[in-house]
Amino acid sequence: MELPFSESYKIKMIEPLYRGTREEREQWIKDAKYNLFNLKSHQVFIDLLTDSGTGAMSDRQWAAMMQGDESYAGSESYENLEKAIQSILGFEYFMPTHQGRAAENVLFSALIKEGAYIPGNSHFDTTKGHIEFRRAHAVDCTVDVAFETETYDPFKGNVDPDKLEKFMTEHHQDVPFIIVTVTNNTAGGQPVSMGNLKAVRAIADKYKKPVLFDSARFAENAYFIKIREKGYENKTVKEIVKEMFSYADMMTMSSKKDAIVNMGGFVAMRSKELWREISVFNIMYEGFVTYGGMSGRDMNALAVGLDEGTEFDYLETRVKQIEYLGAKLKEYGIPFQTPVGGHAVFVDANKILPNVPKEEFRAQTLGIELYLEGGVRGVEIGALLADRDPITRENRYPKMELLRLAIPRRTYTNNHMDVIAAALKNVYDRRESITNGLKITWEAPIMRHFTVELEKA
Ligand code: F0G
Repeated sequence: MELPFSESYKIKMIEPLYRGTREEREQWIKDAKYNLFNLKSHQVFIDLLTDSGTGAMSDRQWAAMMQGDESYAGSESYENLEKAIQSILGFEYFMPTHQGRAAENVLFSALIKEGAYIPGNSHFDTTKGHIEFRRAHAVDCTVDVAFETETYDPFKGNVDPDKLEKFMTEHHQDVPFIIVTVTNNTAGGQPVSMGNLKAVRAIADKYKKPVLFDSARFAENAYFIKIREKGYENKTVKEIVKEMFSYADMMTMSSKKDAIVNMGGFVAMRSKELWREISVFNIMYEGFVTYGGMSGRDMNALAVGLDEGTEFDYLETRVKQIEYLGAKLKEYGIPFQTPVGGHAVFVDANKILPNVPKEEFRAQTLGIELYLEGGVRGVEIGALLADRDPITRENRYPKMELLRLAIPRRTYTNNHMDVIAAALKNVYDRRESITNGLKITWEAPIMRHFTVELEKA
């Protein structure tokens, strides 16, 4: 008998979970103003709100934490991180920040002026927020197939080179850089192929523009290249990572994802001049250039996390768990972004709840139903997240209304995946009876989904 696939690690430390009852959850979600961000963690059984900062560190990472050097300037932990970034990612210079959006803030403070255009594949919401906050524009040139949730394509995260080229012909004078988000979170954690990274590089070279990778899930992207792209099957993930970044001039990183730490980020770059320019912003917003909002122990854990996070065995365990959940949902006939992404399953709320008017936030409604059913917390990637148009103040209705079920790294087992799938199936089976959604009672002027307050429509 062939031995089945199983995890490439075992568990050394555990944390109890509380299941809760449906009655308790009815009250809790009402008190939370139907915003899943407002729930307390003990009110959630299986937490799929995000894969960001929610992973389990390894014994090697915890050991490295004990050796953190907390010197204000020039700490050894900074050097450890520098060595990891140089050897694994191939960038000579870097600047630590407290998380990914801080890296965006520091870098964009130097590079983005009012009226600029930043084209690329789909921008993550904080990236878009930091662009629009500076009265500049995020231009989404993602391939069209990304929006057909039930069509299989191995690289739905790609930039459409024709769209990008057309945009650059018309607006290149107002473009400070091109951005590629690997993997493309907004499109469903979908990877970008090496061929596509090369194509973007060629367009950038033609117009003499730098390329920035938003790299939160770069290692999952590299895994998919190895598994799906011809010519890469015999390369190691680390070799693929090196080649990916060879097409970029700079990167922003949320270390809370693929580097498997609970907090941290950085900007990395090839230009010493740029490093000097952004060091002013880092010192103002984050901290001195050798810690930038991170403690020494956290930089040590991050250095180890970059190494572990780019190991094939770990990535295979990780992605196979998401695929396991996807296979269950498929078995139950539930529509989702196909194939599943590297960090999450994105369930298609437009297809499940067409009877709920889109003005009543279909994906959020599905998220609330799933929580009530099984204590499973996902997150809306739909009209609430899309915010209002900054000029017209009208609601923006994106092409897709998705409920993202993001799986924390090394945290849950496949039994948990079974519970998630069963809870969603129960909601799916009674989908026809769900006709009322939600309406907003209060919202913030930007990035409203974190704090929005809702009631039943
Ligand atoms: N870029 C991408 C692609 C992201 O997914 C995130 C965060 C960031 C940048 C910002 O990083 O949170 O460290 O400030 N994504 C989280 C998520 C929040 O749930 O997808 P951060």
